[in-house]
Amino acid sequence: MTTSRLPGFYNLPLDERLERLAQAADLTADDLASLRDPGGLTVKGADHMVENVVGTHNLPLGIGLNFIVNGREVLVPMAIEEPSVVAGASFMAKLARAGGGFHATTSAPEMIGQMQILDVADVHAARMAIHEHRADLLAAANEIDPVLKKLGGGARDLEVRLIEHSPIGAFLVVHLIYDVRDAMGANAVNTACERLAPRLEAITGGRVHLRILSNLADRRLARVRCTIPVEKLAFDDYTGKVVRDGIIEAWAFAAADPYRAATHNKGIMNGVDAVVIATGNDWRAIEAGAHAYAARSGRYTSLSTWGADAAGDLVGTLEMPMAVGIVGGATKVHPTARTALKLMGVATAAELAEIIVAVGLAQNLAALRALATEGIQRGHMSLHARQVATAAGASGEMVERVAAQMVSEGIVRIDRAAEILRALSSQ
Ligand code: MEV
Repeated sequence: MTTSRLPGFYNLPLDERLERLAQAADLTADDLASLRDPGGLTVKGADHMVENVVGTHNLPLGIGLNFIVNGREVLVPMAIEEPSVVAGASFMAKLARAGGGFHATTSAPEMIGQMQILDVADVHAARMAIHEHRADLLAAANEIDPVLKKLGGGARDLEVRLIEHSPIGAFLVVHLIYDVRDAMGANAVNTACERLAPRLEAITGGRVHLRILSNLADRRLARVRCTIPVEKLAFDDYTGKVVRDGIIEAWAFAAADPYRAATHNKGIMNGVDAVVIATGNDWRAIEAGAHAYAARSGRYTSLSTWGADAAGDLVGTLEMPMAVGIVGGATKVHPTARTALKLMGVATAAELAEIIVAVGLAQNLAALRALATEGIQRGHMSLHARQVATAAGASGEMVERVAAQMVSEGIVRIDRAAEILRALSSQ
């Protein structure tokens, strides 16, 4: 991949877009087939994935353009039904290019498995006993998954927590810290917890109840930063400084108020989830981790920050748990997910996580820039109008014609779309 800048991409007919993509990212005919109608996941394939299958459910797959993450040009597959997200992220990635793109890092891919220990006679003594057996327990956990061990993963640590107050009184919780390498890790962690439980019962004399991973994956964080030169923020009558300060004021609102923070973080998740879904990863896990992390201080707040540096440029950061994998699960069995991973050329789950947070930050910026200036509706209008036109029964070129008329009238409603469609069809 030499560049993720593909000027005019959005104006190309669909087939030419695919051709452009294939050239830019070295995609094969098979890869392209997974994107084309009726490619992707077959009903037969789906039947091996979940129960009671009767079909598949498709989403649009768009390409986030202009991204540079850690100096690498990357085309980002985004699966999402909401208009403006792909365009917004691509536009902000273009602005971020001028400041060197996105700089991202990840912590070790360590997940937390929880084991709840009930019916312990003396929780304090039991806690100490678990610590005394730490080395044995970790060694036992390391034998459970030889493949992971060979890849350099495995048990890293044990934490013992005393939950003093709960509706059923005090109990112990053991955290198994488990390095899952390039997997999302739920299966490996859940297996390890289930296998360790009898040993913990023997050590504590208690009863191990739940044995399950925590989605508050706060040991598996992805972090990203970008700088937008202030002059790049200017548009129409807005100076760069006005836009920059408006974005910082908008962020302050989210930092201080949970009602706003929920929406602000939803904007981040518009970008994050789109890539998580495109790559066949578990977006519920990512959502759960994100919002729990946003509330870690006891008060729900923004996952991102926005401020100005000494040169007056806008600087954004985002930090959140990012439990994604590139091996196992749907990432390998879903043909489109495979192509999505290939498109990004990621060799590790960490690289994927770094791209995902870059898209989250770009998407956050797109929303704040619009909200802090002209408002969100203007940008939404034309794409939204196309959806409304389609919902009113327009197809083919009629979609554009009906949508264009609604936008020019400033009325985007299904009843108006139906009227326009009738008028145009009878011409
Ligand atoms: C809409 O999907 C997302 C926004 O509401 C995010 C935000 O308000 O920051 C525009």
